[in-house]
Amino acid sequence: MTHIPGGALSPADPRLDALILAAGKGTRMPSPRPKVLQTLVGESMLGLVYAALAALPGVERVLTLVGYEADLVRAEAERCARRGPRPDEAANCIEQVEQRGTGHALMTALPELENGCGRVLVVNGDTPLLPSAALRRFVTEAAGADLAFATLRLDDPGAFGRVVRDRVGQVAAIVEAKDYDEARHGREPHEINAGVYLLNVDAARRLLPKLTNDNKSGEYYITDLVALAVAEGMSVLGLPVEADTDAWLGVNTPAELAVAEESLRRRRAAELLASGVILHSPGAIRVSLFAEVEPGAELFGPCEIYGDSRVAAGALIESHCVLRNAVVGAGARVRSFCHLEDAVVGAACQVGPYARLRPGAVMEEESHAGNFVEMKKARLGKGSKANHLTYLGDAEVGPGVNVGAGTITCNYDGRNKHRTVIGAGAFIGSNTALVAPVTVGESALVGAGSVITKDVPAETLAVGRGRQVNVPRRKG
Ligand code: UD1
Ligand code: CA
Repeated sequence: MTHIPGGALSPADPRLDALILAAGKGTRMPSPRPKVLQTLVGESMLGLVYAALAALPGVERVLTLVGYEADLVRAEAERCARRGPRPDEAANCIEQVEQRGTGHALMTALPELENGCGRVLVVNGDTPLLPSAALRRFVTEAAGADLAFATLRLDDPGAFGRVVRDRVGQVAAIVEAKDYDEARHGREPHEINAGVYLLNVDAARRLLPKLTNDNKSGEYYITDLVALAVAEGMSVLGLPVEADTDAWLGVNTPAELAVAEESLRRRRAAELLASGVILHSPGAIRVSLFAEVEPGAELFGPCEIYGDSRVAAGALIESHCVLRNAVVGAGARVRSFCHLEDAVVGAACQVGPYARLRPGAVMEEESHAGNFVEMKKARLGKGSKANHLTYLGDAEVGPGVNVGAGTITCNYDGRNKHRTVIGAGAFIGSNTALVAPVTVGESALVGAGSVITKDVPAETLAVGRGRQVNVPRRKG
């Protein structure tokens, strides 16, 4: 760590830790789920904040303060850490057992911050749209200050903390909405606290013991550090962030969540259009921040593409499809009303309409899974077709296979799951039940309506059903 005389950090040292305050319940969001796990276009608020911070130059560690439903929030932080940019790193979570305010949150994190590089960027976990360029600018401008925070100008300061400045414009304090008193603090300002702070850890250590909870909420406020730092003669900066005010606003209520989500959705659609993706009804297309859609792919709204999905150039996704961590290869066509999760659709495949690919479904190139076909942990070989009303679970289907309408792999015996293997070039007649474990050999033929309980050798016809009997009809 580079220190300059007097104990302050060198503004030239770019390193810092980032701390996400995510321990609160979010009482203004009437849901049992922790507020930071509410989603915007398929990604949690925590995930979005985490990604913005992890991508910031100089950030050594992203720490997450958890408390309310700590296990759920910790699991999400782990997922965020795995996503990168250093996927091998575990999430750094600190538990705030009782949530006694944002100042108390910082007190809880202090021992861990002491192991860090001397500076910390503290961000409320409920600001999911932080723009990275502006965040980077804030960090640069804040360098060298003991305490800096981002401010916004709003016509109506609402429930946000008010920034109080002295006559020459120096920051004097942040006063929370509930505690603001015009007689004491002057006319209400339009400048508010965005909930993003850069702190020198030495300064924080000196100031935190002076925090009290003597306010209308009975909580320890991180914002009270400002007046305390000013009183100590420390360097304090309230840095206005100029552009894109909405992106810095915290999300507290369902209405605010809806506004933030729509803003993210619109931004993603605009980015895709600009990059060369063809969007029909772009107003109804929801593509998560982490999903990739290549230029030249074509999407029809409404459709939803979430998680780490990838859609290749020339692929076509028709309306009413939901993709979650799904890969769709070049030139593939996913027709309306399909649901794909943790599944792979190879190049030039055809899916749906009304197909469901569950986790572990893999369609090799040029294969077809048609209407009302469900696949789970199943591979459909190159050029194979299961075009109607079929369930393939725990199955391995070779290339060039025709799976007739109504074929079911009976993979579950009530206790265990078993595999079905179908060799290359086999033909499975309609309405066949394949009772697993079972293997149908290459180029075998299974008669329609069969219940196959024994392996079928290659090049063999298997019929497993009652013989048809024709008898003269009785009259009268
Ligand atoms: C806070 C600021 C306010 C600012 C606004 C910006 C304080 C006291 N006020 O208000 O000045 O204008 O953000 O959006 O900080 N949290 C914890 N532990 C706790 C309490 C909260 O981790 O004990 C977390 C919450 O999960 C949340 C974040 O801190 O992610 C902010 O808390 P919240 O209650 O939303 O603060 P605001 O009232 O919005
Ligand atoms: Ca908030």
